[in-house]
Amino acid sequence: MSAMNIQAAVCYEHGAPLVVEELSLADPAPHEVRVRLKAVAICHSDISSLRGEWAGGRTPTVAGHEASGVVESVGPSVDSVAAGDHVVVTLVRSCGECDACKAGHSVCCDGKTALDSSSRLTSSAGVEVEQGLRTAAFAEACVVHESQLVRIPDDVPFVSAALLGCGVITGFCSVTNIAKVNRGAKVVVIGIGGLGLNAIQGAVLSGAAKVIAVDVLDSKLAAAREFGATDTINARATDVVEAVQKLCGNGADYVFVSAGRSQAFTQSIGMLNKYGSSVILGMPPDADKDFVVDSHALTTGRNILGSKMGDTCIREDIPRLVSLYQEGKLKLDEIVSKTYLLGDINEALEDAERGESLRNVIVFD
Ligand SMILES: NC(=O)c1ccc[n+]([C@@H]2O[C@H](COP(=O)([O-])OP(=O)(O)OC[C@H]3O[C@@H](n4cnc5c(N)ncnc54)[C@H](O)[C@@H]3O)[C@@H](O)[C@H]2O)c1
Ligand SMILES: [Zn+2]
Ligand SMILES: [Zn+2]
Repeated sequence: MSAMNIQAAVCYEHGAPLVVEELSLADPAPHEVRVRLKAVAICHSDISSLRGEWAGGRTPTVAGHEASGVVESVGPSVDSVAAGDHVVVTLVRSCGECDACKAGHSVCCDGKTALDSSSRLTSSAGVEVEQGLRTAAFAEACVVHESQLVRIPDDVPFVSAALLGCGVITGFCSVTNIAKVNRGAKVVVIGIGGLGLNAIQGAVLSGAAKVIAVDVLDSKLAAAREFGATDTINARATDVVEAVQKLCGNGADYVFVSAGRSQAFTQSIGMLNKYGSSVILGMPPDADKDFVVDSHALTTGRNILGSKMGDTCIREDIPRLVSLYQEGKLKLDEIVSKTYLLGDINEALEDAERGESLRNVIVFD
């Protein structure tokens, strides 16, 4: 094993186009794994971090965290994967030993690994390049902690498998792990992107009686119907709170807000029945992250729940979702709008930012 040169899409300045260039990728250290990437999808969190919408973002950085590939080499003490394994790559890094991990909330792990304070990427000028979103998958290969990987069967297509790294698990598991939506429930999903479509799929498979999709684009609402939504509302054209109340009678049991807009969080509370729950998934820019809640709406019984990646336990939930996909119950192939080569990543990002695509995926072969 030795350090290798790879092509990667580097962000030198927030908001500026990415530069595709050669970087050096170091060998995996103990408990780390080098993955030859096959596909990486663009999540809205990549866009927000590359545009500098959240505090703490550093440059130079390589984003990309919803990926799949083949294990190329493993560092010392790795026992969960081996060279040649097909894997989903996620940003969920966990120690298995902290209070959060022991309580079953590995997405909230407080443990620290070597990768939390150093990167395995260096530019040709000798500058350390940050592994954005703990991964740096907008590149031909990446080095991540072994806990970030989940093995998948060899016959699952890489492009579809990549989606399981973030958007699918966050949307779907917000429904099954956080809200635990019951049969017959009335559900609303606001924001029909990579997360929202999978919240819809989770609600449908949980037996929800009503699944109302809300977006500002008619094309997204048409996609929502394909994924099982029973009703759709265009938030540009209608008072959404009133429209949901009308469709639900007494209001919704659950509202999943996967649009990164504070206005949508506030709207979600007005859509609930007296014992309903609003689940917050979207991550607005810092400038828009606060929202106002009528406290009386809560003290009469309503709840607000936060979702960090659907409280997914990746090694249990991803295999479960792969089985649903193989049984034809979970749509993944249909989420992929377009595939691009790494050299066209700026075009892929701009297209994703316009909001019309469900998921754009970068492929490497
Ligand atoms: N909580 C988590 O762990 C987690 C994980 C991944 C992503 N995210 C965040 O979730 C959000 C969604 O990510 P995504 O990749 O699905 O995004 P996306 O861009 O694929 O989809 C967002 C959708 O919201 C719609 N939208 C925008 N404004 C709206 C409004 N006012 N009302 C209704 N719909 C509106 C857009 O048209 C689009 O269809 C982002 O903010 C992202 O950063 C959170
Ligand atoms: Zn993501
Ligand atoms: Zn931990």
